[in-house]
Amino acid sequence: MRRLPPVLLEDGCPRELISLIRTILAACKEISFRVGQGALSGVLGSTLDENIQGETQKKLDVVTNQLLKDILLESGYVKAIASEEEDYTVAGNPDAEYIVAFDPLDGSSNTDINSLVGTIFSIMKAPEGSDAADQSIFMQPGKNQVAAGYVLYGPCTTLALTTGKGTRFFTLDKTHGTFLLTQDFAQVPEDTNEYAINASNQRHWQPAMQSYIDDLMAGETGPRARNFNMRWIAAMVGDVHRVLCRGGLFTYPTDTKDPNKPNKLRLLYEANPMAMLIEQAGGIASTGTERIMDIQPDAIHQRVAVILGSKNEVETCLGYHK
Ligand code: AHG
Ligand code: MN
Ligand code: MN
Repeated sequence: MRRLPPVLLEDGCPRELISLIRTILAACKEISFRVGQGALSGVLGSTLDENIQGETQKKLDVVTNQLLKDILLESGYVKAIASEEEDYTVAGNPDAEYIVAFDPLDGSSNTDINSLVGTIFSIMKAPEGSDAADQSIFMQPGKNQVAAGYVLYGPCTTLALTTGKGTRFFTLDKTHGTFLLTQDFAQVPEDTNEYAINASNQRHWQPAMQSYIDDLMAGETGPRARNFNMRWIAAMVGDVHRVLCRGGLFTYPTDTKDPNKPNKLRLLYEANPMAMLIEQAGGIASTGTERIMDIQPDAIHQRVAVILGSKNEVETCLGYHK
């Protein structure tokens, strides 16, 4: 089986970008080990702190953020980082070419129940001549990403990666500590009978999403004339992995539950990298009104509505939003 660096070299991926990706993966291997140790590594449970977004931080949120931050900044391959768990961006090597936004631990609520969690990352180029300490270097649309991926810490540790030449899966060989290519060019099936949404928010959704989900739930006697199945992992990384493997529609739509927080998922380190992976596998990623990767960000922790997955099903859902 083929290792990650030669696969990327064949794609014509610049050496510095490969080194940066390998640096992120070095941290992810350590995270995979610690997550795998569970209670034995003393990382389960919550801290007494909140992040800038008002969410209580789990011990693993803090540990994984520190690991990624330290290894990235020490490597010299990164000009600046933005993380879910950092209030502001952090400057790195002023001469480096790339910037990285990451969600160090996606699915934090799953940590204490031995369920799926992952790390999501997005890599862009810093604008020419920019200052590493300038937050605005991250204010670029997702279509500028040069690479995006996630590492899913499940029964096995899987990397989904794109550098703009398709989406590939690699599996961590834990005996040798290497990521081996296990699927070239993943393709999201265009049609699906499966959807993922936190249905407990139903009464807070907007009318378009209400009617779309009503029609799915009506099954074979409703307007869609077939039955649909529902799944919800409470970790976007797990839900998106399922969609990449066997198709589906995943959404976290706008809702009115908390007037100060109409959307849940963050653009820079959740929606954008997942959108690139999905589009590179033939799927669609939209807010309901626009392509996610076209959004011009104005804040590092900005949130967006997300509807992504199988092409025909996402298009059907978007039809309800017109
Ligand atoms: P995080 O753990 O990084 O804060 O992200 C959790 C996100 C996402 O992964 C998941 O799809 C969603 O929150 C789950 O939300 P609910 O708790 O509302 O189901
Ligand atoms: Mn997350
Ligand atoms: Mn997180």
